[in-house]
Amino acid sequence: MKLKEKVALITGAARGIGKGIAEEYAKEGAYLILTDIMPIPNETISEIGSITLGNMISQKMDVRKPEDIEKVINLALEKYGKIDILVNNAGICRTNLVIDAPESELDLVIDTNLKGVVLCSKAIVKEMIKLNTKGKIITIASIMSRIGEASFSNYTASKHAVLGFMRCLAYEVAHYGINVNSICPGFVDTDMERSLELALAEAQNKTLEDVKNFYKSQVPLERFAQPRDIARTAVFLASSDSDYITGQAINVCGGVVMS
Ligand code: NAI
Repeated sequence: MKLKEKVALITGAARGIGKGIAEEYAKEGAYLILTDIMPIPNETISEIGSITLGNMISQKMDVRKPEDIEKVINLALEKYGKIDILVNNAGICRTNLVIDAPESELDLVIDTNLKGVVLCSKAIVKEMIKLNTKGKIITIASIMSRIGEASFSNYTASKHAVLGFMRCLAYEVAHYGINVNSICPGFVDTDMERSLELALAEAQNKTLEDVKNFYKSQVPLERFAQPRDIARTAVFLASSDSDYITGQAINVCGGVVMS
C-alpha cells in the first residue's frame, strides 16, 4: 500500500474526480477527510468507509469559506493528529463569451477555483509546518491551464492562475519537505464534463453527440478519461514515489496537450 495511514483531505469529494481519488486513496491505505459544498452521498460514505474501516470523516466545507476550512482542519487534527495530504479538487466551470459573461460569473469561478485553492493550501500548509509534517499538496488544474478556448475565459484564467500560485508555494515550502504539484486532466467523464457538453451543444446549436465526438476526436488515446485515470496520478503524487518532484504540473489528458 502506497499511502498506509497517511491522512488525506480531499475537497469536492462528493462525486467525479474527487470521489475517484478518495476511492484510490482508500485502497492504498489512507485515512480520509472527504469534504464538499454538498453532502457526501450516503452510498459513497459506506462504500469508501468500508475500505478505510471507518477511518474517514465526511464534512460539508465550502472552499471559499475560511471558517469552514478551519472547522474541518480542527476535526481532522482531533481525530488523526495530523494532515499529510491535501487534494485541491473542488472546482466549477462556466461557459460564456467574454462579451457576454456577467461579472458575477467571473467572481464565482475565481473564488472557487483560485481563491479556494489558496485558502485551503494556506491553512493546511500552516499546520504541516507547525507539526513538522513532510506533506503533499496536490491541485487538480486542467489542460485549460495550458491552452485557451472560446467560451472558457473565466475557467481558463482561474486554471492558469492556479499553476502560478502552486509554483510559488512550492518554492516557499520546499525546505520544510512539503511537495506541491498539480495534475492537468483533459476530458474526464464526470457530471462537470457532461453538463459542459450539454451547454455547448445548446449554445452552438449542435447535437450532444456532435459535441462529444468533437472532443473525443481531439484525444490521441481515443477515449475520455475516467476519474480513476486522474486518481492514479494523484496516488503517485501523494506517495513517497514522488518525493523528488515539486512545482510540477502533469498532464493526464490522453495526449490532447503534449508540452
Ligand atoms: P464535478 O462537478 O463532477 O465535481 C466537482 C465537485 O466540487 C462537486 O462535488 C461540487 O459540489 C464540488 N464543489 C464545487 N464548488 C465547491 C466549493 N465552493 N466548495 C467545495 N466543493 C465544491 O467536477 P469534476 O469533473 O469531478 O472536476 C473536479 C476538478 O477537476 C475540478 O477542479 C475541475 O475543474 C477539474 N477538471 C475536470 C475536468 C473534466 O473533464 N471533468 C477536466 C479538467 C479539470
